[in-house]
Amino acid sequence: MASLTVRQLDDKLKRLLRLRAARNGRSVEEEIRIILRGAAEETGLEALDMIEPPNQGSAKQTTRPEPRSDAKRVLLIIGGGIAAYKSLDLIRRFKERGVAVRAIMTKAAREFITPLSVGALVGESAFTDLFDPESEFDVGHIRLARECDLVVVAPATADLMAKMANGHADDLASAVLLATDKKILLAPAMNPRMWENHATKRNLAQLIADGVTTVGPNAGEMAERNEAGTGRMAEPLEIIAAAEALLANANGALAGQRVLITSGPTHEPIDPVRYIANRSSGKQGHAIAAAAAAAGADVTLISGPVNVPDPKGVTIIKVESARDMLDAVESALPADIAIFAAAVADWRVANAGEQKIKKTGAGAPQMSLVENPDILSTIAHLKSKRPKLVIGFAAETEKVVENAKAKLARKGCDWILANDVSPASGVMGGDINTIHLVSKDGVEDWPPQSKDEVASMLIKRITATIGE
Ligand SMILES: Cc1cc2nc3c(=O)[nH]c(=O)nc-3n(C[C@H](O)[C@H](O)[C@H](O)COP(=O)(O)O)c2cc1C
Repeated sequence: MASLTVRQLDDKLKRLLRLRAARNGRSVEEEIRIILRGAAEETGLEALDMIEPPNQGSAKQTTRPEPRSDAKRVLLIIGGGIAAYKSLDLIRRFKERGVAVRAIMTKAAREFITPLSVGALVGESAFTDLFDPESEFDVGHIRLARECDLVVVAPATADLMAKMANGHADDLASAVLLATDKKILLAPAMNPRMWENHATKRNLAQLIADGVTTVGPNAGEMAERNEAGTGRMAEPLEIIAAAEALLANANGALAGQRVLITSGPTHEPIDPVRYIANRSSGKQGHAIAAAAAAAGADVTLISGPVNVPDPKGVTIIKVESARDMLDAVESALPADIAIFAAAVADWRVANAGEQKIKKTGAGAPQMSLVENPDILSTIAHLKSKRPKLVIGFAAETEKVVENAKAKLARKGCDWILANDVSPASGVMGGDINTIHLVSKDGVEDWPPQSKDEVASMLIKRITATIGE
């Protein structure tokens, strides 16, 4: 064999090490430790002392922090938007909480913040290139995609969302997003026009249907001058809260189950400023969404206008009218379980005014009502994509159980949770609820309890049923 220069030998050894490490599913550093430990045992020499302290030598050398063995691991993908600067704070806050972070930056992200800042905060180099032989042999995109508990994309650009929705894999970020088997949390951030664009809406609906969870975007002033609307990335602490909710529940009783929940009232327009509504607060539906998320489910909450806070770790779609709600529900399918807790208006105004209706002195305007679509019945009667458990609520002011039994048969759902919403009960807007669970097996009378307790009892009941 021709003699090798020191440089050639060095290159060959490095390559061999990387290949060996990749084959054994370890980092190069771990591989070196194992080889040296073997050498120490064979020779009796303390070969481990010969290892340089990490991060000395080449700039590419990584100092992977040794997270606690029970530390949660987040893979943060940073997209190319102005909000990328907030991802630096996000890393810092994850680390403060003992979460191990690895970061991938898209090419566009590197136009906004540098890999050096990200690497310094993370404690190892940011991954940037799908075809970088060094990181591909060392960690590899498939290991990056799998060796974490959660993938967080922040900021999630319109472009990244489009690539994800269509299964592209032409750079490291999109390839990892396609290869991961972990939950994905998106924090979208973009100009309000981009967020409102039909293409982005289609992509978002597809991603939600694919089981991706979102946090934000929020409404407010944009970084661009004179731009305001919905599109600001959620604040780092909001993203942390959503991520923690997903991380905490990865092994819950409903892990892997896709749960769709509606909540709150609907608003049916009379004209652009007036509407027909009801007294539903959304407390019960939102409590169920929180309980389902706490049990590890992938939750999509479709909410009418409410004043209760958004539950953490769930994807929330905000709608106004019954027709919007049905559209959102259909777009969010498939789901394993659907719980329809929203108080959907039965009727809407047939001839809602395009402009504010004025007093003309000619008497009150004539208004006729038409029936709204029946969301519960529509979904319960689906031939394909019917969730395996469809649960409706019946808000009754009289003959509660009798009416609920009739509703169960009429709507074709599996369970009806009937509650007395007569003014004396204080259920609408209140904190206490008394449920009668009506199914084909009979009626269960639950005790009066808080809406949170109702939610957790319902989730336990669902878990037991799915277990059967
Ligand atoms: C100054 C500037 C700011 C941008 N901000 C955003 C943004 O906030 N959200 C977004 O979706 N795209 C934004 N873009 C466009 C993206 O950078 C562009 O679509 C890029 O291809 C995204 O690449 P990536 O998805 O691979 O990160 C911005 C572009 C420029 C020049």
